[in-house]
Amino acid sequence: MAKSTLSFVCQNCGAAYNRWQGKCESCGEWNTLAEEDTTGSVPLSIRSRRKGRQFALESLTGKSQDAPRLASGMAELDRVTGGGFVRGSVLLVGGDPGIGKSTLLTQAASLLARAGHRAVYISGEEAIAQVRLRAERLGLADAPVQLAAETSVEDIISTLSEGAVPRLIVIDSIQTMWTDTVESAPGTVTQVRASAQALIRFAKKSGAAIILVGHVTKDGQIAGPRVVEHMVDAVLSFEGEGSQQFRILRAMKNRFGPTDEIGVFEMTGSGLREISNPSELFLSERELGSPGTAVFAGIEGTRPLLVEIQALVAPTSLGTPRRAVVGWDPSRLSMVLAVLEAHCGIRLSGHDVYLNVAGGLRIAEPAADVAAAAALVSSLARAPLPADAVYFGEASLSGAVRPVPQTATRLKEAQKLGFSRAIVPEAARNEAPDGLSLSTIDTLADLVGDIARDGLPALRRVGRQDS
Ligand SMILES: Nc1ncnc2c1ncn2[C@@H]1O[C@H](COP(=O)(O)OP(=O)(O)OP(=O)(O)O)[C@@H](O)[C@H]1O
Ligand SMILES: [Mg+2]
Repeated sequence: MAKSTLSFVCQNCGAAYNRWQGKCESCGEWNTLAEEDTTGSVPLSIRSRRKGRQFALESLTGKSQDAPRLASGMAELDRVTGGGFVRGSVLLVGGDPGIGKSTLLTQAASLLARAGHRAVYISGEEAIAQVRLRAERLGLADAPVQLAAETSVEDIISTLSEGAVPRLIVIDSIQTMWTDTVESAPGTVTQVRASAQALIRFAKKSGAAIILVGHVTKDGQIAGPRVVEHMVDAVLSFEGEGSQQFRILRAMKNRFGPTDEIGVFEMTGSGLREISNPSELFLSERELGSPGTAVFAGIEGTRPLLVEIQALVAPTSLGTPRRAVVGWDPSRLSMVLAVLEAHCGIRLSGHDVYLNVAGGLRIAEPAADVAAAAALVSSLARAPLPADAVYFGEASLSGAVRPVPQTATRLKEAQKLGFSRAIVPEAARNEAPDGLSLSTIDTLADLVGDIARDGLPALRRVGRQDS
């Protein structure tokens, strides 16, 4: 008999201690240690009969499985997974409460089921009636999805081992699952980890693709042990601003595909609608002619994406001026502000600065530096930027504007959406498609000079359009 060992496990990072303490030394969180029984994560029956079984070693080449990937039929979802669900793989989908995780996965499972594949939806959170209600609202009630409201991992695995191997199994959510092999309560780190392990083992053995839904904590991390993120093949996060209708699906880790693609959806009464041309959406409600907005020609993965960057620079009443940024890296904003102060003669120490990426999008590219700088200067000077111009380029600390990748793709997208000018790094000079005129800049100081010079005429031009 193994002795039962109790220990204190951090519910945030999974670190174990043998006595209670207020703060987890591993992740620094307070009050996250909970008492758990950590014995028996491997069942006794397995532990006692160890005499290493011999197995055959294989070569890299060999008979490949038929159709290792299964496209879901939702192009935006497939774009993020890298072309569909891989056989035997496990995918973790995280997202804020109510963002639409269950909706997305109900739609994906229904599409697969309608295409004749065996798709199973296990809900640990909602009763069958609730899941049915949602399916009805989405117009998917007729899809032959196999549905259950269960939480015992052993029961689930033994049920699904019968009959044809399911092509897709949705587990909504992993935090509600529990397994007999460990004693802790459902939702604790040990349970989540053991349940995930059992399901992953089942996926690898059977060849079914499993999607685990994961809860997200206040600060946006997937709740429970970070180790689950290492165990699964891909981690997707479903994001969106509560007040806005669009949702972005992003891969944070993917063993079978790229991690820089995003999928864009719009939440409607009848479910998630795919947005195949997101630029149009992100620019659709643009206010023309107001100072402090610049259109950034960005790239998400392989897809160009035009998005509006908004800035507000206003005199401060505080000793330390505020710097607030939504959708962009705060330290990049500080850098751009420092470069503007140091090399362009712009003094911002007496101003609050707010920067926002429209539509709830999050930009990670340094290529947005020039667009952000343009928006900031435009707001400070109260000079609207030309409404038909896009901006991109990376700023270096010396104030120089550096080239960025995929220039031609960005310019083509801008032209397609009716822009006629682009303000770009010098290196992009020869890449303009017909009908798009380029202004190249060498430094941010050039940009500031251009805005100061063009600001007023732009204002007049917009005024004329309005009249
Ligand atoms: N009748 C409706 N009309 C329009 N939108 C709706 C309607 N009902 C629900 N929704 C949308 O669906 C969202 C809930 O979706 P869903 O249940 O899939 O979220 P979830 O991420 O699974 O949430 P949870 O974390 O609670 O499981 C709501 O926030 C709302 O935006
Ligand atoms: Mg849900």
